[in-house]
Amino acid sequence: MTSPILQTMRHHWIYEVVVTVNRGDSVATAPFGVWTDDGTTLKAALFKGTSTLEAILEHQSFVINFVEDPVSLHNALNRRDRLTFETIHEGEAAGLPVLAETPPWLAVRLVRFEEQEGKVLLEAESLFESQSGPVRLINRAKGLFLESLVLSTRCHLLGQVAVDQLCENTRVIAKVAPGSSYETAIRELLTKVTAAD
Ligand SMILES: Cc1cc2nc3c(=O)[nH]c(=O)nc-3n(C[C@H](O)[C@H](O)[C@H](O)COP(=O)(O)O)c2cc1C
Repeated sequence: MTSPILQTMRHHWIYEVVVTVNRGDSVATAPFGVWTDDGTTLKAALFKGTSTLEAILEHQSFVINFVEDPVSLHNALNRRDRLTFETIHEGEAAGLPVLAETPPWLAVRLVRFEEQEGKVLLEAESLFESQSGPVRLINRAKGLFLESLVLSTRCHLLGQVAVDQLCENTRVIAKVAPGSSYETAIRELLTKVTAAD
C-alpha cells in the first residue's frame, strides 16, 4: 500500500517519532528515529535490548505516531504514566495501539530485519494510516543548526570546546538531514570558526 505520509518524508532524513506496539496485555512505547530510502518502506535502527524491539519482532506490526512536539518524545521516554492509548479498528491494522488524541499515525508491518553490531535494522511496509490533517515531522537538523549558529558566535570566548561541539553537531546534521541546506550551512560555520583560529 502506498502511504501519503511516507511520501512526505525526505529520502534518508531521520524523523523522530513515538512507536507503539502491543506487548502482551500492555503497550510498548518509546521514541525512535525513522527514515525512508525510497518513499515506499520505512526503516529504523533499534538497539538490541530495547523492549520495543522485542515486541516488534514478536508482533511484526506496529505504529509510528508522528508527534509534533519534542515534549511528547520526552513523555514517551520518561513519563509513560502521562500516556494513554487507543486501538485502531480499521483494516489490517485493527488491534494495534496508537497514542490517544493522536497526531497522524502510520501502521506498518515488518518485511525485513537485519542484525547489525549492537542493533537491528528494521524495514517495514505501510498497512494503514490515519486521515488526520497534515503531518508535521520532527527532524533534529533545524534546531541543532540554530544552536550551532549561536554557538559559532561564542567560539572566540569558549575555545576548542565550542569547536568540538560544532564538529559533533555537524556530524549529527549530516546524519539526520543529509544534503540539506542545514548541512551546507553548518559546514560553512565550521570553516569560518576554524579559519579564525
Ligand atoms: C528522540 C529520540 C530518538 C531515539 N531514537 C532511537 C533510535 O533510533 N534507536 C534506538 O534504539 N533508540 C532510540 N532512542 C532511545 C530509546 O527511546 C530508549 O532506549 C528507550 O528507553 C527504549 O525504550 P524500551 O526499552 O522500553 O523500548 C531515542 C530516544 C529519543 C529521545
